[in-house]
Amino acid sequence: MSSLDVFYSRFFLVAAPNNNRFTGGGGSLSSTSPGGGSSSLISQLIQHSSMKNILALFFLPVALPYLMYKFIIAFRKRYGLKMRRLEGKVVVITGASSGIGESLAKVMYANGCRLILAARRVEELERVKAELVRSKTQYGTVYMPAVVQLDLGDLKSMEAKSLEILEIYGFVDILINNAGMSYRGTILETNIDVDQRVMMVNYFGPLALTKNLAHSMVERQCGRVVFISSVQGKIAIPYSFSLLSDDRSSYTASKHALQALADSLRAELTDLGIKVTVISPGYVKTHLSMNAVTGTGHNYGRMDAATASGHSPDYVAARTLRAILGGETDVVICSLMPRIAIFLRNLCPEVFFWVMANRARKDSVG
Ligand SMILES: NC(=O)c1ccc[n+]([C@@H]2O[C@H](COP(=O)([O-])OP(=O)(O)OC[C@H]3O[C@@H](n4cnc5c(N)ncnc54)[C@H](OP(=O)(O)O)[C@@H]3O)[C@@H](O)[C@H]2O)c1
Repeated sequence: MSSLDVFYSRFFLVAAPNNNRFTGGGGSLSSTSPGGGSSSLISQLIQHSSMKNILALFFLPVALPYLMYKFIIAFRKRYGLKMRRLEGKVVVITGASSGIGESLAKVMYANGCRLILAARRVEELERVKAELVRSKTQYGTVYMPAVVQLDLGDLKSMEAKSLEILEIYGFVDILINNAGMSYRGTILETNIDVDQRVMMVNYFGPLALTKNLAHSMVERQCGRVVFISSVQGKIAIPYSFSLLSDDRSSYTASKHALQALADSLRAELTDLGIKVTVISPGYVKTHLSMNAVTGTGHNYGRMDAATASGHSPDYVAARTLRAILGGETDVVICSLMPRIAIFLRNLCPEVFFWVMANRARKDSVG
């Protein structure tokens, strides 16, 4: 038997051990070949196997690497070009001093964006800035991030703050409304000024900032506004004493308002070249619950179990980046159960209300 025959017989035996087409049903190829000779073995192979198999056998080692090479080139072209699309973009991130905002700063900086980091705690913003500068950018040019102190609860200052932001580069390409605060409490036991504060920071502040900065986008006929909302911007979950984990009424109301604002803004500005993206994460492992306020205005100061086991802020930031690059409008980042709940709320609201009422009833009895 020639070495070619050995190669063929080994290949087919390994590739198709139960395939008796070449063995005449009796086991090894060589032993059962009717002709017995090596030349008849090859001719039998050619006879029985399709031309396609023979071609595949010869061309697979060449074709596979070639196809992989083509795929990598196409991927790099497509994705790399999109990455380059972000290079030099002026990106404002509110709430960049911690959590999701800090992670967003990392991914945007790594993509060569010109960052404007905003929040109340300047020292934390400076820390984030220093860490960014120390880090190695993965892509594009490095631009020194700028820091702007901003309190979204101070509505009157929003116009001056927007001007301060615009003075840095003269325009804004992407505004990421990420900053927010959370709250724990029942509707009836919550002071109205707490409700007002939550709405101010989570809704009116971002609204005022968006109004001011979107004007400059309209002038340039381009830009993107991103809202970091929440799954609770899609569904309202009642307060759970036993779980002590979920954000309630005012928080969910503020996020619903943000979603409605984003949907209206998208419709109004779409012909002016401005895109709007809403990101609705489920639980994310940040200090959000630690910084939450209670119905009496005190600091909640606890890390909820659900929050502690949530997505990493880096994951949410990476998904947000992908949404921006892909031009996605509405992204929900959560597990199956909240997805089912959102689906139920939209398609069978009565079922959703029944489930939520049961949950609240169970808690109040407990
Ligand atoms: N963590 C979650 O489970 C989760 C889930 C869904 C959605 N989200 C949303 O994700 C966003 C970011 O929250 P996070 O989870 O990253 O929590 P975080 O770590 O507490 O970050 C909140 C950020 O908002 C800033 N901020 C708070 N009040 C502000 C104000 N009055 N003015 C300006 N900035 C203010 C904070 O900075 P300063 O304190 O320095 O001002 C901080 O940088 C929020 O909108 C939140 O609703 C979070």
